Amino acid sequence: MSTRTLVAAVLLVMLGGMLVLPLRAEDGEGRGKAKRNRERGDNIGDMMERLHEGRRSPMRQLETLGKQDKPAWDDVAKLLPGFSDMSKALEKAKSQDVRDASDTYVQAVKHMKEAVVKKDAALLKANVAALKESCSDCHKKGGPGGELD
Ligand code: HEC
Repeated sequence: MSTRTLVAAVLLVMLGGMLVLPLRAEDGEGRGKAKRNRERGDNIGDMMERLHEGRRSPMRQLETLGKQDKPAWDDVAKLLPGFSDMSKALEKAKSQDVRDASDTYVQAVKHMKEAVVKKDAALLKANVAALKESCSDCHKKGGPGGELD
C-alpha cells in the first residue's frame, strides 16, 4: 500500500467515526439524565444497571435465594460485595438527594451481610424485600434516580 493510499484510508476511517459517533449519542435520548451523570464521572447509573437490571442480574439471583428456606449461603456471600459497593457509591453520591435517600438500601445491605454471618434465612428474606422496596426511594416519580421503565 502506498503512503498516499494509507493516508486516504486513515482519513476515511476518521471521517466515518465522526459520522457514527453523533448517531450513537442520540441512542441515549430519553436517558439523557443517566448519560449526563456518567459524563460527570458518577457511575452510579452503570453500577445500578449491572446489579439490578435483567433476568440474570445479581438482584434477580438474590431475590431467588431470598425466597429459599435454606439458601446456598456461599452464593449469597458471593453476591453481596456488589451490593456493598453500590451502598458505598450511594452514600458518596454527588447528589445530596441521592445520598439522603440511600438509607433504606444501605441498611438492607448491612442486614443481608448479618444474615450471611448468622445463616439466618428469615433475616435475609426480610432484607431482600426491604432492598427491593428501597428502589422507590429514588425511582418513584420525580425521584433523584429517575423513573424506571
Ligand atoms: C438512593 C437512591 C437509589 C436507590 C435506593 C436505587 N437507585 Fe437505581 N439509580 C439511582 C440513580 C441516582 C441512578 C442513576 C440515574 C442517572 O444517572 O441519572 C439509578 C439508576 C438505575 C438504573 C439505570 C437506569 C438507566 O436508565 O440507566 C436502574 C436499572 C436502577 N437504578 C434500578 C434500581 C433498582 C432495581 C433499585 C432497587 C433495588 C434501585 N435502582 C435503587 C438511585 C437509586
